[in-house]
Amino acid sequence: MDFTLRVWRQAGPKTKGKLGQIAAKDISPDTSFLEMLDIVNERLLEKGEEPIAFDHDCREGICGACGCVVNGFAHGHQEGTTLCQLHMRSFSNGDTIYIEPWRARAFPVLKDLIVDRSALDAIITAGGYISLRTGSAPDGNAIAVPKDNADLAMDAAACIGCGACVASCPNASAMLFTSAKIAQLGLLPQGAPERLDRVKNMVTAMEDAGFGSCTNHGECEATCPKEVSMDFIAFLNRDLMKSAIKK
Ligand code: SF4
Ligand code: FES
Repeated sequence: MDFTLRVWRQAGPKTKGKLGQIAAKDISPDTSFLEMLDIVNERLLEKGEEPIAFDHDCREGICGACGCVVNGFAHGHQEGTTLCQLHMRSFSNGDTIYIEPWRARAFPVLKDLIVDRSALDAIITAGGYISLRTGSAPDGNAIAVPKDNADLAMDAAACIGCGACVASCPNASAMLFTSAKIAQLGLLPQGAPERLDRVKNMVTAMEDAGFGSCTNHGECEATCPKEVSMDFIAFLNRDLMKSAIKK
């Protein structure tokens, strides 16, 4: 398959970027999107040109390191799929593919398609953990957890922290990410004692990091590669209200 790539090229955080054009010829349909970029980069290096900088790690949809906006969609057009699991067979031969970095004030571009997502780490640092001493691992059934809560907590814990929800939101809000982290802990007995302080601290950190507010557009849920539900944003808002009443 042959493609024309229109790729965002930006030498550094303070440099002005622009869309470059690169041909990606003779690509196997079974190549993943990131493998296609690897092939293009090898060819660029052979010609002595600068390769395209992009983030990646596991390449199996679990680490959250990859991600670009492809033809206007975060992680590309395929639902419930990270960019590393998108394959070139889902495009048409001859396509022009636009590849851009996540766009959000809280995610400054470092180089080409790589953005600084440490603002998400700042939210986690503000409360995305349990600070109680829990000792060594207890027996699986020692702490009873209602089945519904266990299932919901697992759904929330599916979030891989990729930031696609931020990149898709017209407000560049990190509410889906933050709410998933809050719910995965708040729904379990171990997370309950710090539940209301956690929500207050993490939402404050989210606002301080420069993320926008949620106005229920729903782009986050539509684009999330792990299909995290916006119901968790309602969970966050209920806890935030309770934490204000408690104060
Ligand atoms: S909620 Fe979904 S889109 Fe947002 S960071 Fe988590 S996995 Fe990525
Ligand atoms: S590289 Fe780990 S999720 Fe894509």
